[in-house]
Amino acid sequence: MRVVVTGAGGFIGGHVAEAMALAGHEVLAADALGRSATPAAARANLAALADHPGLTLVEADLAVDDLTRLAEADVVVHLAGRPGVRTSFGAGAAEVERDNVTATRRLLAACAERPPGRRPRVVVASSSSVYGSAGDRPHREDDPLRPASPYAVSKAAVERLAAQAARGGVPTVVLRYFSVYGPRQRPDMAFHRFIDAALGGRPLPVLGDGGQSRAFTHISDIVTATLAAATAELGTAEPGTSDPATSDPAAATVINVGHAEPVQVRTAIALLADLLGVRPHVRHYERAPGDVSRTWADTERAARLLGWRARVGPAEGLADQIAWHRGRETWATGAREAARWGAR
Ligand SMILES: NC(=O)c1ccc[n+]([C@@H]2O[C@H](COP(=O)([O-])OP(=O)(O)OC[C@H]3O[C@@H](n4cnc5c(N)ncnc54)[C@H](O)[C@@H]3O)[C@@H](O)[C@H]2O)c1
Repeated sequence: MRVVVTGAGGFIGGHVAEAMALAGHEVLAADALGRSATPAAARANLAALADHPGLTLVEADLAVDDLTRLAEADVVVHLAGRPGVRTSFGAGAAEVERDNVTATRRLLAACAERPPGRRPRVVVASSSSVYGSAGDRPHREDDPLRPASPYAVSKAAVERLAAQAARGGVPTVVLRYFSVYGPRQRPDMAFHRFIDAALGGRPLPVLGDGGQSRAFTHISDIVTATLAAATAELGTAEPGTSDPATSDPAAATVINVGHAEPVQVRTAIALLADLLGVRPHVRHYERAPGDVSRTWADTERAARLLGWRARVGPAEGLADQIAWHRGRETWATGAREAARWGAR
């Protein structure tokens, strides 16, 4: 299968591109290094992919460059974008508009220009943040969307674009990822900062009181779900969401990809400290704008359509991320981890 992975310099994109190549697909891995919010990490991720057999790297800014080549595939896994709730306020709003909304619109338009029957399936990265905070039950895909940040609004817009493309004859699958962690996690994300701080003997920077809970999902589970979404027989599309713009059966299939059990940040810190063999020193900072109290994934649809359920729990997953931090001068460690996880 010819597979294009956008955002291949990213945390998720790097793992997915590698796993696709290891699965024997012909992979075109695209990124625009200049658009990464964490360029050192993106450079390292791309370097790890550079000599991978079956994988070709291409520099393409989805918001401005010609995308014809990227649409010539059986599957496009669209993981490029500007992540992060916190940084999307203020000046960051223009970045999420450009790299999430404009980039996705242009990529889907390029796919729509292919002749019918030769259009790729497009797997699009969305986020649990479109829901806002969860109440006393997990969020289902047809729950109302209550985005609470410019980032979440941009992802809701991305979903509408995917639904529109699906109606226009480009098959799309929207994956709502919940907080992802594991080897190569972005340096701005919580566990990465906590582990770095603990290994360096510094206090762990916690935004708020640590009472927030998240459906933390290990990268290996994210990779498995994403590969399944790229290839699964989905039949007639599921109704999208409660959003009237996306809820007709011809619209994009929307699937939660998150661990079924949320974990409080303070519980994860205690677990981390245990695994690292340190006493946790925590420094609390003001809670970030747009930070929701709880994310919680209903995974029934993922199980039914993709045969997927998150398998890696926090103890195993955090131990894996710590191992990566300890040996991360050698990116090969991360690559081997990815191969091992991807193959499960
Ligand atoms: N990491 C998470 O926990 C999480 C959770 C929910 C959703 N997501 C979404 O998954 C996707 C990947 O997230 P990530 O954590 O790997 O982020 P990341 O920042 O590590 O990777 C994104 C990559 O996209 C590239 N990019 C940005 N704008 C581009 C453009 N205009 N053209 C080409 N490339 C561009 C960047 O250079 C970067 O390498 C994003 O869409 C993100 O919003 C991530």
